[in-house]
Amino acid sequence: MKKIAIFASGGGSNFKVIYEKIISWDIPAEICLVISNNPSCGAIDFAEQNSLPTFIVNKTRYPDSHSRDIILMQNLLKTDIDLICLAGYMKMIPTNIVAHFENCILNIHPALLPDFGGKGFYGIKVHEAVIKSNAIESGATVHFVDNQYDHGPIIAQRKIKILDTDNAEILAERVLKAEHELYPEVVKAFCENRINWESGLPKIVEERKE
Ligand code: GRF
Repeated sequence: MKKIAIFASGGGSNFKVIYEKIISWDIPAEICLVISNNPSCGAIDFAEQNSLPTFIVNKTRYPDSHSRDIILMQNLLKTDIDLICLAGYMKMIPTNIVAHFENCILNIHPALLPDFGGKGFYGIKVHEAVIKSNAIESGATVHFVDNQYDHGPIIAQRKIKILDTDNAEILAERVLKAEHELYPEVVKAFCENRINWESGLPKIVEERKE
């Protein structure tokens, strides 16, 4: 069983779908820690309602950035975390954590990376940019995290066609549905050791159906 830490700053709908798959035994893992910079976000409420351990790390609680990074790392090590899932986490992951958890930190992004990613591409801004570009498709991307926003190796993508009826808000909802399918699939693959590296790129090995 893999030990997972979720990092979230907002409503946490991706966190919730992963949690549901874990408690229904579909993903062989346990959520051991939920980390946020925002003590009053939906993700923290949900974690508390479900008795999951939480840890809040922000400038108010730890004004010194070095101490902040160290305490975050200590919490992850103390809990013996195997996998970190970023689920709408609005802060950069400290470099000491990226280095220690190389290829063990996943992020989901609401567009088809490498397009529409990086600094400034978050929330509704991503979908506004996609609509404005007249792209014919969008979707969700799950990738490993490195030291740049939305940049590490791409593991899987789910594409959706952009419809004439889409605006940024409608597209955001449709992409979020795709995220809710894709993210648990990738987390499951990681937890079942089904992500292989081929020519330096991660690739999911399909589940064997008995
Ligand atoms: C999702 O769109 C995700 O792709 C992005 O942040 C959003 C988080 O949504 N990284 P939620 O908090 O999981 O509902």
